[in-house]
Amino acid sequence: MANSSIDSAALALKRGELVAFPTETVYGLGADACNDSGVAKIFAAKGRPSDHPLIVHVANPSFVSHFAAEVPVFAHKLIATFWPGPLTVILPRRSNVASAAAGGQNSIGLRCPSHPMALSLLRACEKLGVKGVAAPSANRFGRVSPTTAAHVRDEFGADLLLLDGGDCAVGIESTIIDCTRGVPVLLRPGVLTQKELEAACGERVHLPQALPINTPKASGTLESHYAPNAKVRMIDGDALALFKATPACVLYQLPALPEQAAHELFAKLRELDQVGVSEIWVTRPPKGEAWDGVRDRLMRAAA
Ligand code: TXA
Ligand code: MG
Repeated sequence: MANSSIDSAALALKRGELVAFPTETVYGLGADACNDSGVAKIFAAKGRPSDHPLIVHVANPSFVSHFAAEVPVFAHKLIATFWPGPLTVILPRRSNVASAAAGGQNSIGLRCPSHPMALSLLRACEKLGVKGVAAPSANRFGRVSPTTAAHVRDEFGADLLLLDGGDCAVGIESTIIDCTRGVPVLLRPGVLTQKELEAACGERVHLPQALPINTPKASGTLESHYAPNAKVRMIDGDALALFKATPACVLYQLPALPEQAAHELFAKLRELDQVGVSEIWVTRPPKGEAWDGVRDRLMRAAA
């Protein structure tokens, strides 16, 4: 992509307009995180409740202190290990910044993506004084996240300014770690395993169910989310051997490798929706934490 497109996208963000852009996980629908009316356009376009916080994308770790009031040591280690990359950290928010983007929470979700086009955009933004780009996945509320530019067009039409960065390599959304509770808490699994996260931060990473606290509203943690129009069901064992596909009821066999399954899952669900099938039977992911992200998305799609 020519620099001119990146530069004009950054200018649009600076003016308070929306820009869809690729990240290594999924496409995001972005606005200047510190421009409340720009951020309001995201909630309106998505049909997302305005108390659901957005992730703010930054060009590098030096921007963390602009948004976050404090950064625990374990969060520093996570950032140092996984940025740029598919990790979002939730940190206590500075009270005077990005409150609309944070959905009114006193915390803020931050992530530095590794997709080269996302990084170029964030660097161009930085030159214009835009310190972070709030961007949820570029889909209407509750729907499957987009992993190609064509998916974003299907969601929002031709008028939206869109940077085309090809297929997203990862394919499912970032791992989210809440760093506001004194210990790391895994709010949303992604492609980083719990073991990798624990090795990086030198601490146990807790699951929210195990802690006696109430979780802030997080769309990606709603029981039913990421849902295609077709019904999604899981299948394994004897049932799989007996399964008979029909035009309306199809089998989707997950690839053998979890990275590959993550990469193609959302595109497959969209493709089958477009063909108009009514039921998608997906082979149950194997046990093991490498599959946690894919398993999580499938359970929500099937809920
Ligand atoms: O991979 C990703 O994370 C993609 C790309 C575009 O970066 N973004 C994404 O955004 O998935 P979204 O808005 O669809 O999901 C962000 C999740 C939501 O469940 C949101 O509620 C949660 O992050 N979140 C963001 N800020 C939060 C906060 N301050 N406290 C709790 N949850 C937060
Ligand atoms: Mg989303």
